[in-house]
Amino acid sequence: MPFPVSENVAAMRGSSTLIAAQMANEMRARGIDVIDLSVGEPDFDTPQFIKDFAIEGLAKGFTRYTATAGLAEFRTSVSDFYKARFGADISVSEIAASCGGKQALFNASAAILNRDDDVLIPKPYWVTFPEIATFCGANSVFIETEETEFILTADQVAAAFTPRTKLLIINSPSNPSGRVVPPAEMRKIVEVCAARNVYVLTDECYLFFAYSPAEPFSLATLEPELRKYVCVAGSFSKTYAMTGWRIGYTIADPAWTSAMVKLQSHSATHPTSFVQYACAKALGDVEQTIDAVNAMTSEYERRRNWFVPALNEIRGFSCPMPEGAFYAFVDVREMLDERVNSSAAVADLLLSEAHIVVTDGAGFGADGFLRFSYATSMENLERAVAAMKAMFGTKVRL
Ligand SMILES: Cc1ncc(COP(=O)(O)O)c(C=O)c1O
Repeated sequence: MPFPVSENVAAMRGSSTLIAAQMANEMRARGIDVIDLSVGEPDFDTPQFIKDFAIEGLAKGFTRYTATAGLAEFRTSVSDFYKARFGADISVSEIAASCGGKQALFNASAAILNRDDDVLIPKPYWVTFPEIATFCGANSVFIETEETEFILTADQVAAAFTPRTKLLIINSPSNPSGRVVPPAEMRKIVEVCAARNVYVLTDECYLFFAYSPAEPFSLATLEPELRKYVCVAGSFSKTYAMTGWRIGYTIADPAWTSAMVKLQSHSATHPTSFVQYACAKALGDVEQTIDAVNAMTSEYERRRNWFVPALNEIRGFSCPMPEGAFYAFVDVREMLDERVNSSAAVADLLLSEAHIVVTDGAGFGADGFLRFSYATSMENLERAVAAMKAMFGTKVRL
């Protein structure tokens, strides 16, 4: 008899981004020199001073359970950091620690969604958003944004409301598109939602990776009347190159926060105590932390400035300049023909002929696109571009 997987889990799809990473690993294990442009994590190591704080935390005995919402030091540091960096007034009762941004998103969704609620999700979306909605028994209602080059607008949100809309999930800077919604439009989006009693879950995991003239902008900076409709899902994973540490947080109205804490008390309980300590200390050292983040951001920006124009020189590739994150989302529809008739087929071709691993856009709700991560060395980016130019040719300049 097959294992009786629950209906909720059976209804979820596996992660297409993890499938690409797995493929790269398998090829590497076979001794193939793979250029992996599918990675969704920084290629930097965690800054040394944060590692040192974790060791200090262990030495000080931060090895036991903490409160479910996190150490008081952690919550206070998040609040102080948002004050110092963004001028936001956030009370500790609005903050809860979680095991990464993913758990923050899961807690926030599960604490608000009921069966048959509608969740608005702009395309292209991060793969996990619709799967969380599915797990909660809610329906994903997708918003098309190609018309505005994948930059969500308040009008698009307003046109997508249904009588059952409970939540909008947004992600700016976006994975996979790298696009950034301007702050004024973000505010408008929350305003149209609030007017309909619709809540907004904002995944700010790439918050600091916004390249000039775009600036890091958090919905945590909205005034309390609007902010009560918002839950910020924050993460240390990308910002501080701490993907393996599993730490993030939510910022939401105390009632939403209490519901999330109640849920978390029956699941992970809380993120690792000495990791919370390390993050509290790191955020407390605002200057050193911001310097470390800025150094990584500058390097991503340098790579983007070279990589995206280079991709646009390849015949059949088209990609607007992404303002943030570390992804280029390339439209390859122009190069499709009878033989290579989907973006998945282009990804397969890149893999088999050039040993380049990229992620097919179909998993993000955007068939015809490929996601290239530039969280890798310039050398890898240069090798990949040279190989792709050799494969597909370059555009003819008029
Ligand atoms: C948009 C987005 N949100 C959340 C996450 C998950 O982050 P964390 O490692 O903090 O769970 C990722 C990771 O790839 C992501 O791309």
